[in-house]
Amino acid sequence: MRLAGKIAWITGAAQGLGEAIAHRFAREGCAGLALCDIQTEKLHAVANAIQHEHPQCQVLPLHCDVRDEAQVIHTAQQIAQRFGRLDILVANAGVIHSAEITEMTLEQWQYQIDVNLTGYFLCAREAAKLMKPQGSGVIVQINSKSGLKGSYKNCAYAASKFGGIGLTQSIAMDLAPYGIRVNAVCPGNLLDSPMWQETLFEQYARKWGLPQEAIRRYYEAQVPLGRGCTYDDVCNLVVFLASDEASYITGEAYRVAGGQL
Ligand SMILES: NC(=O)c1ccc[n+]([C@@H]2O[C@H](COP(=O)([O-])OP(=O)(O)OC[C@H]3O[C@@H](n4cnc5c(N)ncnc54)[C@H](O)[C@@H]3O)[C@@H](O)[C@H]2O)c1
Repeated sequence: MRLAGKIAWITGAAQGLGEAIAHRFAREGCAGLALCDIQTEKLHAVANAIQHEHPQCQVLPLHCDVRDEAQVIHTAQQIAQRFGRLDILVANAGVIHSAEITEMTLEQWQYQIDVNLTGYFLCAREAAKLMKPQGSGVIVQINSKSGLKGSYKNCAYAASKFGGIGLTQSIAMDLAPYGIRVNAVCPGNLLDSPMWQETLFEQYARKWGLPQEAIRRYYEAQVPLGRGCTYDDVCNLVVFLASDEASYITGEAYRVAGGQL
C-alpha cells in the first residue's frame, strides 16, 4: 500500500506496461486512476477489470491521444473535475518503428517524436499545472535504455527517448520549487510485451537478418542477468519513485536493464 490514497494518471494504459502499472497502482492503494489511451475498447476493458478487482479505487478511462494538445488539456480538466487533484503522472504511451536512417521516412520519424517526446511534454505540462497549486506531485516518464545509448536502426526512437531525458532533467529543475519530482525509468527489453510479440520480433528478425525464433535468445544473451525485463521489474521501481519513500530523488533516469548498459 505504498500509494495509499493517491490519484494517478497513466498514459498508454490499454495494454502492455501501462496496463501492468495501472493494475499495480490499484494494488498499492491508489484512490483514483485516470487511464488514457487511443485504443478505447481495450482501455475500457482494462478499466473495468481493475474497477471490479479494486472497488476502493475509482477508475476513469479517458480517450486521449497524447499528441493532441486539445485532448491532453481536456483530459487534465476531466481529472481535476472528477478527483480534484493529481498526485502522480506516469507518461508511458510510446511507439517504435525500426528502420535504418536512409529508409526512415519523415512521417515515421515525426510519429515517434510526436508520441514519445511531444506527448510526454504535453502531459507533463498539464499535470504540472494541476500539481503546482498543491505544492506536491510526481512525474515518472517511462523512457528506455535507448534513451541512454544509441540504438541500431532505431534512430527516431532513440532520439525521442534521449529527448525525454533532457526534458526530465530540465522540468525537474523547473518544478522542484513547487515540491514536484520528475524522474525517468529506462527499461530493458520487455520480451513478453505486445510491443515485442506483435511487432519487434518481426522487425528485428529483418534488422539482424536472423530467423524470428532466434531473436529472443539473441537479445537475452546481451543481458548479464540472462533474461528479458518483466513488468514487475519496472513496476517495482515506478512505485518506489512515485511513493513518498523517494522524496529526495528528482531529475534522475534509472535503468532497469539487467546490467545490459
Ligand atoms: N516493450 C519494451 O521492450 C520496452 C522497453 C523499454 C521501454 N519501453 C517503453 O515502455 C512504454 C510502454 O511500452 P509497451 O511495451 O507497453 O508498448 P505497447 O505498444 O504494448 O503499449 C503502448 C500503449 O500506448 C498507446 N499509445 C500509442 N500511441 C498513443 C497516443 N498517441 N496516445 C495515447 N496512447 C498511445 C498504445 O495504444 C498502447 O496501448 C513505451 O514508452 C515504450 O517506449 C518499452
